[in-house]
Amino acid sequence: MHIHSKSLSKEAVLAAVEQARANDVPWREGKLYAYVFDGGAEVEEVGKKAYMAYLTENGLDPTTFPSLLRFENDLVDLARRHLGGDEHVVGNFTSGGTESIMLAVKTARDAFREKHPDVERPEMLVPITAHAAFHKAAHYLGVKAVITAVDPETFRADVADMRGKLNERTMLVVASASSYAHGVIDPVREIAALAREHGVLCHVDGCMGGFLLPYFRRLGAAVPDFDFRVPGVTSMSMDLHKYGLTPKGASIVLYANEALRRHQIFACSDWTGYTMINNTIQSSKSGGPMAAAWAVLQFVGDEGYLRYARGLLEAKNAIVAGVNAIPGLQVMGDPEMSLVAFTSDELSVFAIADEMKARGFHVQAQLKHGPSKENIHVSINPSNVQHTAAMLEALRAAVEAVRAAGGGPKPPVEMAQMLAATIEADTTGEGLGNLVAALGAGPGGELPGKMAETNALLNELPPKTRERLLVAFMGHMFTPRSA
Ligand SMILES: Cc1ncc(COP(=O)(O)O)c(C=O)c1O
Repeated sequence: MHIHSKSLSKEAVLAAVEQARANDVPWREGKLYAYVFDGGAEVEEVGKKAYMAYLTENGLDPTTFPSLLRFENDLVDLARRHLGGDEHVVGNFTSGGTESIMLAVKTARDAFREKHPDVERPEMLVPITAHAAFHKAAHYLGVKAVITAVDPETFRADVADMRGKLNERTMLVVASASSYAHGVIDPVREIAALAREHGVLCHVDGCMGGFLLPYFRRLGAAVPDFDFRVPGVTSMSMDLHKYGLTPKGASIVLYANEALRRHQIFACSDWTGYTMINNTIQSSKSGGPMAAAWAVLQFVGDEGYLRYARGLLEAKNAIVAGVNAIPGLQVMGDPEMSLVAFTSDELSVFAIADEMKARGFHVQAQLKHGPSKENIHVSINPSNVQHTAAMLEALRAAVEAVRAAGGGPKPPVEMAQMLAATIEADTTGEGLGNLVAALGAGPGGELPGKMAETNALLNELPPKTRERLLVAFMGHMFTPRSA
């Protein structure tokens, strides 16, 4: 693409924008079990209108746009009440779960450094089920992520393993409420007590569950304590753009007190420009996501969220029971959240995912890692609830189809070994782009319609090898090819 020599008409460009999404997943149909948290047309309208009203306002400077400062303080106040925080709890609005987590890790690192300037690479204890954002934070921030075990049946963090790995370099311990992959809550009480005993900070990742779980508890579900009510919890992340149903770009990071949060704030006067002072990683940022979150939370209100939660809880329970009733499938762990992972000892879950797609249902394949076998994950959002029975019916049919076809691809162990050797031999990674193309990725990153064979191959690669291949895939995808 180049800049057109002549301006195009408003109608032409806006029509082109609409047309561009022709091949995107039609998420409004409610058959996409990931990426989108859809509260329906009215919630979408309120979010979009408030977003557009503040699209151009800049969150860089709250003194110029005091309305944004008010929105942010209101949202943080709402979040801390929701998560059992007292008046000492402070926090900020961020662009998403990853930013909230990166800020919490940076804060923990800088608080730790103040007391232990001699420790070059502070450590954080991260259960193997914690979100990849903790690894990203470790990678960006020069922190070591020490991976800790989980129970192989429940997928909840193994506190004894954490205890064994805690040492004088440990700055932070992490718990999830809930984890993404299996939707289960870690034993936050024990983890926070361990942290407290050793004077270490404890972050609870409530990006997924922080908003919804209190509603599930009110509806009678067994939800263990996971928030600031638990002694020893020093920071939390909670996304609004997930189960708060607000437009994307909306999360909250909270700290037990200002003394801790001050390590998050970055100020710079050491240059010739304006005084820069940032709470978040972003500097200039649209006021849209914040205004939208502020509006949607009030529009839906407590009664609305309770209603959504009831639908989600019923759908989750129905899906857990329905999946377990299909011969050959088993739910992994006992998810408290409306996130369900299931696997099979007999059939290829990757082939089942393809068969679901052929039936219009988009579910997510998760590769095996540690104690977690390859599986299918569904993040249930309100738009899915109406389709629960149809989804289970499609799943039954998908399983039968895979069984009738011989069970799907067998683990291509030898091919994976050869591929791994090729990838590892390419130390510069320069040849990997060709390899990605040879594996079936189109020039624009298009993937084969059926992913079972590719996923089966990826599933057999060691994680570090997968990562190298995925980096090459991203490079391949994000390379403009001039027409
Ligand atoms: C438990 C958990 N933490 C963190 C994140 C990261 O959130 P985001 O994608 O908004 O950066 C996710 C995303 O799914 C998550 O499930």
